Amino acid sequence: MADKPLHLDLIDTLKDVSVRVDHVRPSHAKGVFVIGSFTPSKEAKQLSTAPHFNSPATPVLARFSLFTGIPDLPSNDPQANPHGLAVRFLIGDGVKSDIVCHSTPLFPASTGEGVLGVFKALRDNNVEEYLSTHPEAIPFFTEDRKTPKHWGTQTFYSINAFKFINAEGKSVFIRYRWVPMAGRHFLTDDELAAKGANFLFDELPEALAQGPIIFKLVAQVAEEGDITGDCTQRWPEDRKLVELGELKLTRVAEKKDLPPQKETIMYNVIPGVQGIEPSDDPIIATRGTVYTASGQTRRQAEIEAEA
Ligand code: HEM
Repeated sequence: MADKPLHLDLIDTLKDVSVRVDHVRPSHAKGVFVIGSFTPSKEAKQLSTAPHFNSPATPVLARFSLFTGIPDLPSNDPQANPHGLAVRFLIGDGVKSDIVCHSTPLFPASTGEGVLGVFKALRDNNVEEYLSTHPEAIPFFTEDRKTPKHWGTQTFYSINAFKFINAEGKSVFIRYRWVPMAGRHFLTDDELAAKGANFLFDELPEALAQGPIIFKLVAQVAEEGDITGDCTQRWPEDRKLVELGELKLTRVAEKKDLPPQKETIMYNVIPGVQGIEPSDDPIIATRGTVYTASGQTRRQAEIEAEA
């Protein structure tokens, strides 16, 4: 029998690590959709012709999520970190573009095959042995991750590099960051222990009632020679940071804001618009096939459950 394709092996192994169900995401299963809008800066259009960097404002459908494929994971479980932030720019006429980030600048492997090795180590409970032969994964597994006060007090990172192309055809490589306007604020261990199991979700409507959650979208711009094809290699912190615009998240999404099978919204990392292209980072193409296949499985499972 032929080997299982890489993207299906990745999805299956993720399910082995968490739960074997088809109607939830095998990673970042527990999440909440929020509505908002994105206003670009003047600098954004100098770097890229992408529509959301060149129109006055673009509506956004975002989703905050906890890590792992466990759908009822408590907000104060250590496995809930890193958190996810997926942002969909609803450009119009059916055109959309997504940025899918998580709350650490670290990632444990640079290729789809490498990530499969990480997932298998998690499944087989031998991460320690894995790390002894894969030192590039050590920072991701040993990072001391704190839980934020709420979703909007942490920075999110795209990990993968993308190519921006401007109106003169000039290009640069960038990595995205969502930087919280409220600053970075985290709970102490005691504060976290005193919180309810679902606090990040329960407290979100109240936080939004006091005002929008605002992030600056920032591009870290690579210099000549910076590696774009290996997301385990961070670029030096002195690289130029260009502010691309402001994301204002105003309310939790209601039923009317979402398609009928709401959980089947599939974010993706392939930009799909002019002015932004994937870099040579192989993880981007792998994520592209993984997210599409995973989303289709979820959609089918929801349709069957409702039939
Ligand atoms: C080869 C590498 C990766 C694999 C195999 C993988 C796998 C997955 C899968 C299967 C899903 C669920 C997709 C769906 O059903 O819609 C997912 C979602 C997600 N992943 Fe990844 N992932 C990878 C890399 C990354 C990276 C580098 C990041 C952070 C920058 C990331 C952040 C997220 C987030 C935030 C979501 C939730 C999106 C949502 O809210 O719908 N993943 N991932």
